[in-house]
Amino acid sequence: KTKLWLDVDPGHDDAMAIMLAIHSPELDLLGISTVHGNAPAEHTHQNACRLIYAFGGKEDLNAYPGATKPLVRHARYDPEIHGEDGLGGVEGLPSSEHPAIRAKIDHGKHSRALEAMASTFRQVKESSHRLTVATCGPLTNLALLISTYPELLDVIERLVFMGGGVGMGNRSSVAEWNILCDPEAAQIVLDAPIEKVMIPINVTHTVIFDHLYHSLLLSPTSLPSFTNTLPEPETPLRHTLSTLLNFFAQSYREVFGFQNGPPLHDALTIAYIVNPELFTGTRYRVDVELEGKHTVGETVVDMWDYKKCDHTWGREGKNCIVTQSVDVEGFFELFLGCIDRCDDL
Ligand code: BDR
Ligand code: CA
Repeated sequence: KTKLWLDVDPGHDDAMAIMLAIHSPELDLLGISTVHGNAPAEHTHQNACRLIYAFGGKEDLNAYPGATKPLVRHARYDPEIHGEDGLGGVEGLPSSEHPAIRAKIDHGKHSRALEAMASTFRQVKESSHRLTVATCGPLTNLALLISTYPELLDVIERLVFMGGGVGMGNRSSVAEWNILCDPEAAQIVLDAPIEKVMIPINVTHTVIFDHLYHSLLLSPTSLPSFTNTLPEPETPLRHTLSTLLNFFAQSYREVFGFQNGPPLHDALTIAYIVNPELFTGTRYRVDVELEGKHTVGETVVDMWDYKKCDHTWGREGKNCIVTQSVDVEGFFELFLGCIDRCDDL
């Protein structure tokens, strides 16, 4: 099994990444760190604890609260997309007052993300194994780990991060949200000697949770509904997931004009780790614009290998595989399979 560390800011699509990480039989999820981003850090941590519980994560699976703000800039949140607490509109999710969830939240107060990551990574290293890291939010936690524990980086076999765009943005003309929230952290990560895979919005925008997949999620045993009405949810879990994805769909309709459904951005990190063959990608030099008047947070992808010839840049080497496409049907097969397993618990 692939040992996995997951860093998230839940967040509706982060929730889907957590579900996939827990229910992919190919993965051994060691822990989850949370970060500021879609909502303030306190909320993203509580949400992760609620989701672990609701998705039937192992009892010793914990979420550890990480950075409450970016390295240099002021924190920004995205209530327009995810609601004030990061999981707007979700029905049926147990609250943070539930005793088992409260215990997880309190556990995190004594053990913060940076320490939890360092101690887990060290244990993996001492057992002569390696692990994969997936990030679905701003890269602050990982940048802090890189700066604080450089001796642990060689235990990371691969980092798969959802973030950035190739010539496109979603929270400015050219900047994607996760990178825009903490561009300096993203550059630290891109400069680190770690094998990296980027899942940009160019790819995530092809994975749309549309009416057909919604109908399959609600009722996998009935024929998919091609009419406007959706089937009744077969189980409480399916109802909860449906309300979660409905809210996300509405945000994407209102803010970005997506009429067919929302993109499942973060879930793609886990799909890549489970089956990289679903994706195509090319290795490029990627840097983050840190100073531009109109372009802060842009991921600058050197598709023409220009920097190789320009020594004034001072940064060299193709540092990242940039994914370019994903097999959408293959993704949804994996996604719906995880929901089935989650539902069987
Ligand atoms: C990213 O930003 C957040 O809204 C999502 O959770 C995802 O990680 C997409 O740009
Ligand atoms: Ca996210």
